[in-house]
Amino acid sequence: MKIRIDGINFDAPEDFTILDAARFLGLDIPTLCYHEGLSPGGNCRLCIVEIGNRERTKLVTSCTYPVEEGLVVRTSSERVVKTRKMILELLISQCPTSKVLQDLASTMGLNKVRFKGKWEYCINCGLCVRMCEEQMMAKAIGFVNRGNKLQISTPFDEKSDECRKCGACMYICPVVTLRCHGAHPESVLCNGCYNSLQPTCISNEDNYNCWMGLKYECGTCYSEESNT
Ligand code: SF4
Ligand code: SF4
Ligand code: FES
Repeated sequence: MKIRIDGINFDAPEDFTILDAARFLGLDIPTLCYHEGLSPGGNCRLCIVEIGNRERTKLVTSCTYPVEEGLVVRTSSERVVKTRKMILELLISQCPTSKVLQDLASTMGLNKVRFKGKWEYCINCGLCVRMCEEQMMAKAIGFVNRGNKLQISTPFDEKSDECRKCGACMYICPVVTLRCHGAHPESVLCNGCYNSLQPTCISNEDNYNCWMGLKYECGTCYSEESNT
């Protein structure tokens, strides 16, 4: 597929997306919900690029848009950069403590967020759902509800028998990094403190998005309490 991307003519393989082509050429497009080991989700929209000629252009998500013959792409036009920053501002206002989002802000030169912080613990990027289904073959979690009630949960919001308690969903989550406030956050991957006998170190369980269900799995707090 002959495409033109940021002024570079490129003969891209048919199965390439615009993101694949850009990365092949060393062009930087920020991504958040994209992961090489998972199918593209197109959820965060941070990877948008502008396609088309000057009279008729549109923004598309580069991680999901396949290359096509004659495609003209601009990865960093003024419109693209402005829209990306707006999207990132909205995401940061949802989860201001996310190190991943903060790093993206730094890379993209975003130093001010105009929206009021909501302090949520999920940006609905869908990485955890794809990780659970495609890598762990578990399908234990998924999106439920729509619109501003959209969230990740287990079927019927109950402990899932499908869950392998692998922690992969927590591992891949871009906003989970600072979620664990437990006794030894540096030593646990899975919010083990929350999965403990008495979650005394956690004041608000609703803030924790752990679907692993079975308590005491990590045992960190349990062994501490046993020793006292
Ligand atoms: S811990 Fe459970 S929900 Fe999370 S990825 Fe593993 S199987 Fe899926
Ligand atoms: S829990 Fe994390 S990985 Fe899953 S959708 Fe929300 S932000 Fe993304
Ligand atoms: S990285 Fe493409 S939509 Fe999120």
